[in-house]
Amino acid sequence: MDNRPIGFLDSGVGGLTVVRELLRQLPHEEVVYIGDSKRAPYGPRSAEQIRTFTWEMVQFLLTKNVKMIVFACNTATAVAWEEVKSKLDIPVLGVILPGSSAAIKNTASGDIGVIGTEMTIASDIYREKITDLAPQMNVHSLACPRFVPLVEANEMTSSLAKKVVYETLSPMVGQVDTLVLGCTHYPLLRPIIQNVMGKKVRLIDSGAECVRDISVLLNYFDINHQRDKQTRNHQFYTTANRDSFKAIAEKWLQLPVSVEHVEI
Ligand code: DGL
Repeated sequence: MDNRPIGFLDSGVGGLTVVRELLRQLPHEEVVYIGDSKRAPYGPRSAEQIRTFTWEMVQFLLTKNVKMIVFACNTATAVAWEEVKSKLDIPVLGVILPGSSAAIKNTASGDIGVIGTEMTIASDIYREKITDLAPQMNVHSLACPRFVPLVEANEMTSSLAKKVVYETLSPMVGQVDTLVLGCTHYPLLRPIIQNVMGKKVRLIDSGAECVRDISVLLNYFDINHQRDKQTRNHQFYTTANRDSFKAIAEKWLQLPVSVEHVEI
């Protein structure tokens, strides 16, 4: 048993999609979340910058005495997960492996689409992981650089969002039976993405898939939070505007959250 919180990091509000799934599957756990919205999006940045910013978030989470760190960001996972994982003595999880396995499990045709930020797609890490596990898979990748700014601006249902998603995804329509949402911001656009791709396409939420791995690791290391009746004191931090983060977080998580601004 270990009653310390689990640390989550993301370039902004995207990692909340992982937290929502954590609170659903593992409601006794406690969360410390850092979103670097001030410097989002990370996708168009250099690998060096993303590595530096990710380490800053990791250092911040370590000051909060976390028992595990979850990279609730595909871009940070693609660039810095291996390095951070090898340097820390607590478990560090990313979102890319769980998303890849889920896609393989779900596809019938073998045609898997992957959408993500410029960096995630340029790294080709999903194709690598998917074809490493199952070489017969055909991976179609597409960068969607306009999605994250829409989500950070709380524009998840606007007509601009519908237009951007439609225009961006049209090359993918009809090509795949399974689509990996390879950026944790994208599940916030899920209804529009599903609408454009068609009802039959299975959408894989890489962040939600990663919660199963969190659960496995908590059991393996025997570090589950005590299952008592006390309320959990989740902590949310943003490097940008508190109110805007709070509005998105409360709507998405369906609970009141207290958010603090922090400089890292
Ligand atoms: N949520 C991050 C991801 O999963 C978004 C990265 C960005 O800020 O561009 O990739």
